[in-house]
Amino acid sequence: MHCWAILLAAGKGNRCRTKDQQTAKQFLSFFSAGYPLYWHSALTFSRIPAIQGICFVFPPQENDSDESSTDYAAAIQELERVHPLRIPQRIARGGKERQDSVYSGLLALPDACTHVLVHDTARPFVSAELVTRIIDALRTGTNAVVPGVPVNDTVKQITPDGTVGQTLERSCLRAIQTPQGFSRPILEQAHAKAAADGYLGTDDASLAEHAGFTVNLVEGETANVKITTPEDLALLQPQQQYRQVSG
Ligand code: CTP
Ligand code: MG
Repeated sequence: MHCWAILLAAGKGNRCRTKDQQTAKQFLSFFSAGYPLYWHSALTFSRIPAIQGICFVFPPQENDSDESSTDYAAAIQELERVHPLRIPQRIARGGKERQDSVYSGLLALPDACTHVLVHDTARPFVSAELVTRIIDALRTGTNAVVPGVPVNDTVKQITPDGTVGQTLERSCLRAIQTPQGFSRPILEQAHAKAAADGYLGTDDASLAEHAGFTVNLVEGETANVKITTPEDLALLQPQQQYRQVSG
């Protein structure tokens, strides 16, 4: 098994922006840590022996946002000096949709890579135990595996007029997180089929499902939240402030 992590940091973070805070969330740095959000999960992945390398996916060059003009290689070199990962790294440029960014990351992987973990850097609190659970499932020959947590809220399907349609059976529901693990050929085939069919998914498992592959589950973690809105930032570090950084 030769496993690489694709760490996605190419989104615009629109839902996390405010009038006064226009930096994409993955580039925000907490005072307590001193490095940007995307480096949190990079540190976690880099400490896992089975992970052979990390491919960062940064915003596409054509974005006319501040982030696209950043020299990411230089930013990483500086972070590496102070908070080292000490693991092979590659950089890819993402695309318009998350799916495009993953595909771009896939293209940048070395030939030797046989398995891929795709992770949203907007989930900084992923634990080494969860990453290891995904890798262990892949080791057993599973082709696609995702973390899921039980849903605590009652979930209702709503109708186009905004009223309640039906209540879904909660025991059959799981909220799906990242990292999602795949054997490389399966993930490549899933992306190829999605591209051919014009299918757009919000995670990689949905592409694998669309291509007819079985997707397995391991237990996720409630702490592994995705930072999505400014409220998430505030909830996660209620005593702390965050500031904007350039890389
Ligand atoms: N992502 C990406 N490329 C994209 C879109 C998203 O790499 N074109 C990444 C984000 O950087 C994030 C993860 O996918 O780590 C999950 O996406 P989401 O939480 O939706 O982040 P954003 O798309 O950046 O936020 P928003 O949808 O609010 O603009
Ligand atoms: Mg998004």
